[in-house]
This record gives sequence, structure tokens and C-alpha cells, in this order.
Amino acid sequence: MLENQTRGFANLSEAKRYTVTAALPYTNGPIHIGHLAGVYVPSDIYARYLRLQGKDVAFICGSDEHGVAISMKAKKEGITPQQVIDKYDGIIRQSFSDFGISFDNYSRTSSKIHHETASAFFKKLYDNGDFIEEVTEQLYDAKADQFLADRFVTGTCPKCENPEAYGDQCERCGSTLNATDLINPKSTITGETPILKSTKHWFLPLDRYQDFLQKWILVDHAKDWKVNVLGQVKSWLDDGLKPRAVTRDLDWGIDVPVEGAQGKKLYVWFDAPIGYISSTKEWAAREGKNWEPYWKDADTKLVHFIGKDNIVFHCIIFPAMLKAEGSFILPDNVPANEFLNLEGNKLSTSKNWAVWLHEYLIDFPGKQDVLRYALTANAPETKDNDFTWKDFQARNNNELAAVFGNFINRVVVLTNKYYDGIVPTPNELTEVDEQTLAELKAYPAVIASSIERYRFREAQGELMNVARLGNKYLADEEPWKMVKTDPARVQTQMYVALQIATALSVLAEPFLPFTAKKLSSILKTNIPWSSVSETSDLLPAGHQIGEAEILFAQIEDAEIQKQIDKLEATKKANVMENQVVEPQKATATFEDFAQLDLRVGTILEAEKMPKANKLLVLKVDTGIDVRTIVSGIAEHFSPEEVIGKRVTVLVNLAPRALRGVESQGMILMTNDAEGKLVFVNPEGEGVKNGALIS
Ligand code: 2FM
Ligand code: ZN
Repeated sequence: MLENQTRGFANLSEAKRYTVTAALPYTNGPIHIGHLAGVYVPSDIYARYLRLQGKDVAFICGSDEHGVAISMKAKKEGITPQQVIDKYDGIIRQSFSDFGISFDNYSRTSSKIHHETASAFFKKLYDNGDFIEEVTEQLYDAKADQFLADRFVTGTCPKCENPEAYGDQCERCGSTLNATDLINPKSTITGETPILKSTKHWFLPLDRYQDFLQKWILVDHAKDWKVNVLGQVKSWLDDGLKPRAVTRDLDWGIDVPVEGAQGKKLYVWFDAPIGYISSTKEWAAREGKNWEPYWKDADTKLVHFIGKDNIVFHCIIFPAMLKAEGSFILPDNVPANEFLNLEGNKLSTSKNWAVWLHEYLIDFPGKQDVLRYALTANAPETKDNDFTWKDFQARNNNELAAVFGNFINRVVVLTNKYYDGIVPTPNELTEVDEQTLAELKAYPAVIASSIERYRFREAQGELMNVARLGNKYLADEEPWKMVKTDPARVQTQMYVALQIATALSVLAEPFLPFTAKKLSSILKTNIPWSSVSETSDLLPAGHQIGEAEILFAQIEDAEIQKQIDKLEATKKANVMENQVVEPQKATATFEDFAQLDLRVGTILEAEKMPKANKLLVLKVDTGIDVRTIVSGIAEHFSPEEVIGKRVTVLVNLAPRALRGVESQGMILMTNDAEGKLVFVNPEGEGVKNGALIS
């Protein structure tokens, strides 16, 4: 075993190189703000920061193109899995590039190099005797002539009773499941109840790694891993690890490379994390580098950025695979995020409850940094968080525009106005100047410390404090007032303010890469990160800067309302789509129907039944008489709302006592598109109470 596999790196200088991975997205749909907030923005901040420190970094990702999710999408769209992955691989790549996610390599698990790497990995474990080979009974859909695993089967979770758990995982309680664990399983292909059928598979005996994982994570990393990650791992280990199948009976995926495995594929969660290795190989080959130190040298720091649903795979299964293989390092950290919700509801691809990145850019062209900023400011680092359009607008208008943009604009406009854009020579510095510049010098270390502890919202908050420092300095000094009376002092003030602006152009780069670039080009400078803490002369006197440009325009209420309306429309469409039409009841004869006496009536009086939340006591004019009817509609209507309503009444229903009040009939009701109760009422003025409905 490698010496430092169980030892974390105490600080940045200890690691010689960095392998930073971001979860490989499934190519069964485009990506949305949840993906960006949970994985890709934090990993990009981290990788950009490391590069600014002059570190040797491989920032690795790629498309996850196997597994049932892809096959299901292909079936649904009536196209081949290859067509599905080609389509979404293209869309996803474009989104990453549009949002400045600076991968060193973005590969695909359908690539030749990945198939070879994953096959060789499996073969090595197989040859080592690291698998258990077993014939077991698995769920089988006889109608589709197919074994069911993972997303091909749903049922009730045995742990939390979620009726919509999948064959590999319950999204409600986060448990990882075997398809055969599900209660009342149903095939997602045909809706049939599966039968059990024997089939041979290879299992990774996770139980053999229990003690090792326990010590490596819960002891050695007890202090430097995130609490949410440790919590999930602990609950897994407390349950006791069990052997887990790493092969599947499927027709889409990587062939199991051993005898007697015809028609079987590697489990997608076996091959996907190996995708990080294949993608590194592809990058190294292109760059003329050796990939091996990035995965095998003890002085490499490996960090996996993922969402919380991937914790078990990256903290238990993949490390067990790496440990079994023997020549790889283990992750130094797995800074998993919790989930981001959207306007109070869980993000969902199938329900179209999302802000899709490609659509965002149509409505907010050029505003990539605003979204990056809002998502980081509200990142689900320790708990699930909510994205709201109002918050997005406030982050832009009150923070980016009012603080960052405003400061830069004032500095650049005044420098152009007073000195034709040439940095003035400072005169004697006051105590405030000295203090401001000293404070500025301390920021790189403060921001670095937060980033190195994976606290990206805190780090970005500190970046904004640099802009606040600049704004406060200008507001206190008021050079625009002093320019007439003490121009020599204003030279110093503007010089100091320009140093803060210059520091922002580099400190902002990990978080707001497009803005940082724009700012560097306005200031016509490109300084290294380290110089901010080393010198106060970041932009020397005599240097010519460019013209002012608006960095962050205001976002108007109407633009936000448009997004909110779009989500409202999605909500309505989902309700319509999900409306279940009850199946037709058993045949009724004409005589059966004729026996029902249905009349038009009017509600004359209504009051709540005492001590009953659901019941209203109504007096109804049926045309025959005025009678009492008790109706279970109190949760939907107030008494005042229903008085005067024309209704349809079943008048010959056998009377029944409800809470001691005799109900002499029934009012007919139905549901509207949103599931709300509505009266079935006859239209038309000439229809009299007592009219027979036949
Ligand atoms: O959850 C997902 O979207 C997976 N496609 C993540 C895979 S991460 C890695 F292991 F490849
Ligand atoms: Zn569950």
C-alpha cells in the first residue's frame, strides 16, 4: 500500500500535483443549475485557483454514456443509445464551455481508450480473485424478455417506504439498493411485475474492505472531510457492507471481458469512475505527458467533486476498487455538495423543473458570471438550498452591480476623467491609505484558506469584501469632492483605488472568470495572484488603462417575472400531464342508471359542522323540498363561498347520519386540472331547481 494513501495533505505546498475530477454527467439530457451549483462551479473554482498558484493540475471530466438511463432515454425517443449520447454529449460540452468550466480534458466513456481501460481494470481484479462469481435470482421482465436492474425497475424502498425507489438507489432516503430489495417491483419498460430468474454475475465483496474503509475515512479523515460526507459513509458502514454486483444483463455498456460472460456488461458504476482515469490518459497523450503520476504517485492530491447522491460510489465502491487494484492512490477528499432546489421544489429533469443552461443563455446572454456568482453565494455546501429568481436578481443588482461593478466603474471613469486614463503618481500615503493597502495584501491568504477547505461561498464572500473595501475607501475619501481643493491628495487616492481594482482582476478569476478577463483588459494588466500579497504597486504610476465598460447591468423585474411565469407554466403542464383518468367502472344497466334520481338544486345555507374540519352542513333547494345535506368540502370552500351555488344533487341516496346530522342526499363534485374540487353545476338561466338529470 502506498504510504500516504491514508494521510491527508496538511497544506497546499505538500502536494506536487493535483488530479481534480468532476462527476461525469449522464448524457441522457442537458445540464441545469443543480449540476452547476453542486459540482461544476465549485470544482472549476478549485482548479482555477490551483492554476493561479502555479500548481500542476489535471482537471478531469467526461460524459457518462452507459447505464440504463441512456437506454431508457433511447427507448422513449425511439432512437438508438448511440444517437442519444451523441446528442447530449454535444449539448453538455457546449454548456461547460459557455460557462467557463475549465476542464483540462472532457472525454466520453464510449471512447475506445475508456473501454480498454475499464476492461483491463476488471480483468486485473478478476485475475487477482477479487470478485465473487455467483448465480443468483434476479428480476426478469418476461414480456420484454429482459433482466431488470437499476432504473429499469421501480418499487417501494424497504428503508423509507418511498413508492418510487429505483432498483439501484432510493432518491428519497439516499439508500443504495439491489433491485431484489424493492417491495412490489414493477418493470419501467412494460409496467409488468417481474419474475425471478437465475443468472450469473460478478460481485465485489465490499465486506472485505469494511475495516479498511472505516479507518481510512472515519478515523484518518474525520477532521478534513465534510460532515455530510462522513455522515453518509458512517451510516453505510454501520449497516455493514455487503457484496455488490458489478456486472449486468444488458445490451448497452462495456462487455464483461471474461469467459462465460457473453451478453453481459459492466455495471455503469463500475466503469464510470474509471472514466476519470481514461480521461486523464487521453489528456496526457494529447499533452505529451505521462498520466501515471496523476493517479499513482503518493505526492498527488486526488479530489473528487460530486453531488450527495454519488457519495457511496466515490467513498466506498470506487476506493474499494482502487484498493483491490493496488497501484492507485485514493482520494484525499470528496467534497460532496447537498442538493439545490428551484423555487421550493426538487430539480427534476423529467418534470422539466429546472433552469437549463442553454436556455438561460438565451434569456441572459453574456451573464454567465452572474449565474456562477448566484449559485456559489447560495451553494448547497452543508445543506440543501433553494435557488429563487428573486435572489438571483438581488445578487446581481445589490451585490455584483452595486458593489463590485460600481467600484470598478467609479475608479475607471474617474481615472479617465482626471488623468486621461494614466495611473497617477501617489504622494505621501496617509494612515488610512497604508491600512487599506495592508488589508488588501491579506486577502489572497484569506480567500485561499477558504478555497483549500472547500468553502467556496465563504471564499467568494471574501472576494466581495475586497470590492467593499474599495467602495468604502472611495466613499470615505470622496476624491470627487477634493479634486478642486487638493488635487495632490486625489492622485494618491486614485492610485490606492486602482491597486484595489487591479487586485480584484486576479482574485475574481476563479469565481468570475469572464469578469476578471474583462477587468484585466480594461486595466490593461495581467498580474499573478501572488503579487497581490507581495507588493502594493500592482498598477504602477504612468500605466495607461482603457475606457470604462459596464461589468454588471441591472436585471429588471420584467426579466425575472418572465422566468417565474415560465416555471408557473411548467407547473401547470405537469399537473395536466399527471392527471390520472380513472379507469372505466363495471358496466351499469339502463335500469341501474334510471334508479339514480339526479336533480338540479341551489345551496341556500351553509355552515361548518362543529368539531369536523372537512364537513359543511348545507340546506339545499332540490325543487322537491329544502333538505339538509352534509358534504365533505369544508377544506376546499368556506360556507360563504358556496351559498347560492347551483349544484347537481343525488336526491334518492339513502339518508345517512354524519356526526349526528342526517344527510339526505349528495352533491356531485369533480376535480379541476390542479386537483381542486369543483361543483358539477348546470349552466343556463332557464334550468329550474328540481329539473331531472337524465
Ligand atoms: O450521477 C451521475 O450523474 C453519474 N453519471 C455520475 C458519475 S460520476 C463518475 F463516477 F463517473
Ligand atoms: Zn428510501
